[in-house]
Amino acid sequence: MSDLFSLQDRVILVTGASRGLGYAMAEAMAAEGGTVILNGRDRKTLDAAAAKLKAKGFKAEPAAFDVSDFAASTKAVADIVKRHGRLDVAVLNAGIQHRKPLLEWENADFQRVVDTNLTACFVLAREAARAMVPRGQGRIIFTGSVMGIVARPTVHAYAAAKAGLAGMAKTLAVELAPKGITVNTICPGFFETEMNTPLVQNPEFNNWVKTRCPLGRWAKPEELGGAAVFLASKAGSYVNGHMLVVDGGLVVMM
Ligand SMILES: NC(=O)c1ccc[n+]([C@@H]2O[C@H](COP(=O)([O-])OP(=O)(O)OC[C@H]3O[C@@H](n4cnc5c(N)ncnc54)[C@H](OP(=O)(O)O)[C@@H]3O)[C@@H](O)[C@H]2O)c1
Repeated sequence: MSDLFSLQDRVILVTGASRGLGYAMAEAMAAEGGTVILNGRDRKTLDAAAAKLKAKGFKAEPAAFDVSDFAASTKAVADIVKRHGRLDVAVLNAGIQHRKPLLEWENADFQRVVDTNLTACFVLAREAARAMVPRGQGRIIFTGSVMGIVARPTVHAYAAAKAGLAGMAKTLAVELAPKGITVNTICPGFFETEMNTPLVQNPEFNNWVKTRCPLGRWAKPEELGGAAVFLASKAGSYVNGHMLVVDGGLVVMM
């Protein structure tokens, strides 16, 4: 039982880990002994996030790159493999949001959201798989969203990307399983992070979450950590192609 959730000596890349859900998942996995490589675009924020984890006695290092720069993403995975000799877990979590009524959407904004939230995940999953296949093992975990399952107005590209991610995760799961690699998607509900600041600060929306969610509140980022540890560890060894919804019961309520 004791090593069921252990991530001792695992080399783990978490994209979008300078803050929010990525940081929370990285912290939970580092607490289980993993070496976490924190990605984001801003080197300074990443250094501070890695220092915070190291101060707790955890193993953490920064890897600054823009996931929508596909050449930089490819190089970043190669660098990790060069430095550590392997990549055990890839948590592909970096994401952005763009909220506008349909008639105000620009094509470029749609493309930007899809590049970051979907295409970057394809590129990084492929590069991670290139590192994992020769070793016959690995875990790929995407951060999807309940917005890939149900809908709200204004988040057209985001919902399309997250639904696309869920579909892609399934094809990767069936293709990579024979190579010893599992692929799963975590679908968070409403978490209090920077991405959601405008929603938390909007009294109407804030109240909607509290009354709509059966648990009656927003989630705290650290409440996603257990899902990542589970899917990355021995405890999740037979879980593949799954969408793990972490939403306080929101999408199952009529
Ligand atoms: N919060 C929620 O309720 C919720 C619900 C469902 C799904 N999600 C998903 O969870 C993930 C994390 O969201 P969050 O709420 O934690 O958001 P957040 O607080 O805004 O954090 C986003 C993280 O991604 C990084 N990032 C953004 N664009 C990037 C890029 N192009 N390249 C590399 N890193 C990038 C950010 O760092 P820099 O800006 O410094 O690059 C930051 O570390 C996203 O995929 C989001 O869609 C969130």
